[in-house]
Amino acid sequence: RRTTSPRTAMQASLCSRRPAGLVNPKMKTGTVEVAVREIDLLSDSDPPVFEIEDAIDVGEETRLRYRYLDLRRPRMQQALIRRHRICKIIRDYFDAHGFVEIETPFLTKSTPEGARDYLVPSRIYPGHFYALPQSPQIFKQLLMISGFDRYMQIVRCFRDEDLRADRQPEFTQLDLEMSFVQPEDVLTIVEGCMARLMREIVGVEVPTPFVRTSYDEAMRRYGIDRPDTRYDLHIEDVSDIAGQLEFRVFRKPLAAGGCVRCIVVPGGAAMTRRELDTLTDELRGIGAGGLPYAKVAEGGRLETGVAKFFDAGATAALLERTGAGPGDLILFAADSEPNVCKYLAWLRETVAKRRGLIPQDRWDFLWIVDFPMFEYHEEDGRFYSMHHPFTAPRDEDIGLLTPESATRCRAKAYDLVLNGIELGGGSIRIHRADVQQKVFELLKIGPDEQRAKFGFLLDALRFGPPPHGGIALGLDRIVMMLSGLDNIRDVIGFPKTQRAVCPLTGAPSEVSAEQLDELHLRIVPPGK
Ligand code: AMO
Ligand code: AMP
Repeated sequence: RRTTSPRTAMQASLCSRRPAGLVNPKMKTGTVEVAVREIDLLSDSDPPVFEIEDAIDVGEETRLRYRYLDLRRPRMQQALIRRHRICKIIRDYFDAHGFVEIETPFLTKSTPEGARDYLVPSRIYPGHFYALPQSPQIFKQLLMISGFDRYMQIVRCFRDEDLRADRQPEFTQLDLEMSFVQPEDVLTIVEGCMARLMREIVGVEVPTPFVRTSYDEAMRRYGIDRPDTRYDLHIEDVSDIAGQLEFRVFRKPLAAGGCVRCIVVPGGAAMTRRELDTLTDELRGIGAGGLPYAKVAEGGRLETGVAKFFDAGATAALLERTGAGPGDLILFAADSEPNVCKYLAWLRETVAKRRGLIPQDRWDFLWIVDFPMFEYHEEDGRFYSMHHPFTAPRDEDIGLLTPESATRCRAKAYDLVLNGIELGGGSIRIHRADVQQKVFELLKIGPDEQRAKFGFLLDALRFGPPPHGGIALGLDRIVMMLSGLDNIRDVIGFPKTQRAVCPLTGAPSEVSAEQLDELHLRIVPPGK
């Protein structure tokens, strides 16, 4: 019988214990039986497209197309409930610390976070567009000028960029800003929040304060500004030793101002020729010319690979510098410094994963501090902000804001890293007009462009801005990490694919000619 009343259906059934012989201890419900007197059909169902259970072997496209079925699976339910709990703990924590959650607009102007904007055409103003915010950056700074000393928001951000496992076109930030602070104040408040999340969600006490490492030190030791410090495999510079050898692959980059560095893989001498060839091919795939390596044999002799180029003196110096011993493998990179960092960081992570060198029960929170203010791009001979143009230089580096010394100028900027994943980044902002002006000049952002892009912020900064700073953390990434997952799509209700498509709704999709007309838009097909 069809009915619309759920109550009748419930009244109709009774539970009873199963007779001894029929108890099934393997099932959660194996000791009870539902005795049905009458069935009311409230709603019928097609056969589910896949089993509603955790262990399914179904492509992600299908799961996303039928996301409402996918979300019935226990694992997905737990993920979204955990996400809810994390947001609740965050809000309670910041509320208790005097932060006010304030919403900032979605239909707004471009924010300088370095990605492409999603644009929304205006119907009322032909040829004019809103930009969806890449972050609430400028608005939160305006709120500081308004006198809200502590702002936070759990907020959606939009960035049109190449997607990866830990990037979505729309994602959520835990965004915050504080007045009258130095970097330490921001780091401390975030540490308290993360420690509380770890305690209440994972059941682990993480010690605070977290380790702080300078950007320079991270690049030197790990070749990357978001190192996974759960394992060592650190980088050593051996340029001086390598420079003595008659080996073209080392000599050439050194002569061109580059360097030779290496990592030691403990027990890596057991790696087969085949494994090393595969590694070499993959490394070539990211631009390297090859992979020079040597194995350390009994008695501290070098074997295979580039061993033949090392005489006794160079071998002894190499082993002393790196601490490598019998059974270890030494992997070298010889190129410009940025390339050497890139190759060794990739090797470090790849080899650690493949050889099972990563302890799974560690939570290595790490602050990277003292980022450079600028990166210089050879291609167009320009400086670019490492964080964004409102980031303040360190007080003692203000004098370095000249084209000659700008690369040495460090910023009051910081990133939070957990197990090799960048969880967040922020900075203390510039609140002095003269300093901001110097930064714009270095970035070659002229007065017209300043006006057009951030005129409203520059105006506001004339009205007594307090010193202020903040940070934004990727909420999706936090939930992913605290869930032990490696894909943010698994902690988002309705995510997009890596190709920025929603298989469920079919977005993005074409729109009608009338809609385009109303928006004063015409489509130019690609290739025209
Ligand atoms: P930033 O650009 O570093 O800083 O972003 C902060 C954090 O947001 C997360 N994130 C993303 N997560 C998922 N998908 C994406 N596409 C994506 N892009 C960024 C990352 C990142 O660390 N306004 C500044 C913060 C500040 O200065 O206060 C900002 O947005 O976890
Ligand atoms: P070869 O002298 O060409 O036999 O190379 C010796 C070792 O150096 C091999 O392990 C190569 O993978 C590596 N190698 C060769 N060319 C380069 C290069 N341009 N950059 C880095 N490594 C290289």
